[in-house]
Amino acid sequence: MEHRLWGGRFAAPTAEMMRRFNDSFRFDVRLAEADIAGSLAWAAALRETGLITEAEHERLVQGLTVVRREFESGRFEPREGDEDVHTAVERRLYELIGEPALKLHTGRSRNDQVATAFRLFAIAAAQRVQRGLRGLQLALLEQAERHTATLMPGYTHLQRAQPITFGHWCLAYVEMFERDRQRADDATIRARTLPLGAGALAGNSLGVERERLTEDLDEFDAVAANSLDAVSDRDFVAELLFVFALTGVHLSRMAEDLIIYSSAEFGFVELDDAYSTGSSLMPQKKNPDSMELLRGKSGRLLGNLVTLLTVLKGLPLTYNKDLQEDKEPFFDSFDTLDLALQVAAAAVATMAVRPERMAAALDDAMLATDLADELVRRGVPFREAHGKVGRLVRRALELGVPLRELPLAEYQAVQPDLDTEIYAVFDFARSVARKASLGGTAPERVREQCMRWRATLGGAGAA
Ligand code: ARG
Repeated sequence: MEHRLWGGRFAAPTAEMMRRFNDSFRFDVRLAEADIAGSLAWAAALRETGLITEAEHERLVQGLTVVRREFESGRFEPREGDEDVHTAVERRLYELIGEPALKLHTGRSRNDQVATAFRLFAIAAAQRVQRGLRGLQLALLEQAERHTATLMPGYTHLQRAQPITFGHWCLAYVEMFERDRQRADDATIRARTLPLGAGALAGNSLGVERERLTEDLDEFDAVAANSLDAVSDRDFVAELLFVFALTGVHLSRMAEDLIIYSSAEFGFVELDDAYSTGSSLMPQKKNPDSMELLRGKSGRLLGNLVTLLTVLKGLPLTYNKDLQEDKEPFFDSFDTLDLALQVAAAAVATMAVRPERMAAALDDAMLATDLADELVRRGVPFREAHGKVGRLVRRALELGVPLRELPLAEYQAVQPDLDTEIYAVFDFARSVARKASLGGTAPERVREQCMRWRATLGGAGAA
């Protein structure tokens, strides 16, 4: 049998370098299982339409099952000339069952075939990423549960701003990763539209019922309504690559916080040895490489998204071979993110938190807003209160003392009716407890949020 699926029209063989340029088996072999699932559904549809006999169908099922097992067990032997995974499966099927293998491709094209297989792969990949996200959320939640009342500086512009709780910091990332999980779900909704049966581009003329196909392939809940769009649509790849890229951005931001927090200057957290590495030259070094790699690898996730969008942007309808370039960026992003999420979860779960270092980094100036709020409670308009407290901060700097050591006379100079009660403001725990608005950093609110996340995410609570 002619090995190429399309050789009949050709008088001369493909150039060796062209073959290497064109072949995709080395990477699209990962679609083998999905390709065979699509072929099994297609074979059932062919039987139902009367295009193959019951017996032929049975042979196809047996043969495809063997090929699937060969792939699963790593025993599948590629041959020179296996252009892509679809070619390889069909070639092997013919070796195994002969004649009926030649009927499998009836009414089908590799264009609707590959679009179907890739969607199946992408749906499973999205689900795996969602599980990874949940694992990371649980690791963050566990830290949050231990630290609902642990005080630390909160930053804007990376300058000390107001006191917050470490639990609140943890849950901020839980929120981000929740949106990533939801986005993966949302992208999956549109991936569940079935292209199979669209033929090469125009539809199939042999009467194969496409609705019937979604019964065998329950990942799909609708049939693509336009065959031209069906074979050339890769929006599902772009959408998931965006979800992966944004997840990478979130991982990178979390990593950046933890890199800063684990420096000697901060010392808020210490990563476990298992997620750090040393220096070949400086014996004392312990570097947060897990976090630096999370930050660094997010670049690949962004790059892969741009790669795919660039491949798609100038394509005329319908299928063009450019589309074969959709797979490597997706596989790379999926593999990168899958491992990144596992490493992130483990590093967060095992890091040591140092509440005493966090507390030591708090300073009175972070209570300046609380001081202004106190004046507001006494009837001073906020804009004025802001100016008065600003003057107090400047005085404290001039005298080289913390705000709480500024003499009462200084306070009375800006606001005559103040008495020693004003010094009660200098209590970080009180400041945080007062941020009790919904979504605020008050331990009471953080505890409620922990309970909400525990109910949403499940798993065992931290002791
Ligand atoms: N390996 C190809 C791809 O991934 C399969 C589709 C080939 N179709 C074609 N008309 N040459 O895009």
